[in-house]
Amino acid sequence: MSRKQGRLYSKVAIITGAAAGIGKGAALLFAEEDASLILVDINEEKLNEVAAEIRQMGGNCEIVCGSVGLMKTAEDAVASAVNAYGGLDIVFNNAGIMPVGDILDYEEETWDEVLQVNLKSMFLMCKKAIPEMLKRNGGSIINTSSVMASLTEPGYTAYSASKAGIIGLTKEIAVSYAEKGIRCNSISPGWVETDMNVRLAESMGGMDKLYPIIKQQQPLGRMATTREVAYAVLFLASDESVVVSGSNLSIDGAASAAI
Ligand SMILES: NC(=O)c1ccc[n+]([C@@H]2O[C@H](COP(=O)([O-])OP(=O)(O)OC[C@H]3O[C@@H](n4cnc5c(N)ncnc54)[C@H](O)[C@@H]3O)[C@@H](O)[C@H]2O)c1
Repeated sequence: MSRKQGRLYSKVAIITGAAAGIGKGAALLFAEEDASLILVDINEEKLNEVAAEIRQMGGNCEIVCGSVGLMKTAEDAVASAVNAYGGLDIVFNNAGIMPVGDILDYEEETWDEVLQVNLKSMFLMCKKAIPEMLKRNGGSIINTSSVMASLTEPGYTAYSASKAGIIGLTKEIAVSYAEKGIRCNSISPGWVETDMNVRLAESMGGMDKLYPIIKQQQPLGRMATTREVAYAVLFLASDESVVVSGSNLSIDGAASAAI
């Protein structure tokens, strides 16, 4: 018996930060759902490993290695989609970094880097991707924000600012391009099982120090898996969410509902 077509059959998707964590989880799920992929990351070795895994599954996959903070990376990613697959339908702007520190100790260069990688990257990618989506009379953009856009803790100076900016940018694009069939939504994950949090735990003295905080902040009582986050991204990427645009979807085990 032939296999049913996937939920992203015939769609072309760019995913940034695809070598690890949430981006990798989305890349694997999108491939299972028959999307043709352009994976973008600064970590070439891990990016090649993810691409190999997807090709092993029989998926279509190209890679672009570079920083999302640079216009050239956005240009290369969109050009790669057009050259390899003839166009572009979906962008998952997901790469991000989280250096923490009190504002009084926070270097100006670190602030600039966080804003460039987390926020300006999305402006650059959308600027290059939207003209290609217009040629196909539509598309879906999903931008990774964070629960920390609206709820924060000491030390997340630039991170929280960048994540709040993403929600504003998302709404503006949604409003500007709704009539042209381009949708734009953000996701706000809470605690997710990724290397980002492994590094945070290491800086705090180990996972044993982090787990009680997660239990207290996220009523679910545990971190989400990257697969669980990817399912929400898949919904926003697919035509199933055709009237969903300008929204910010919390994927946080009720963290943003708690006092
Ligand atoms: N993990 C969480 O709990 C959590 C919660 C809320 C939001 N987020 C957001 O989700 C996104 C993904 O986070 P994650 O936890 O999967 O992180 P991660 O550190 O596990 O993976 C991030 C990936 O992005 C890549 N990357 C970093 N800087 C880059 C750059 N300049 N150019 C291209 N690629 C770059 C890294 O190489 C890595 O492969 C980020 O935007 C993060 O802020 C994460």
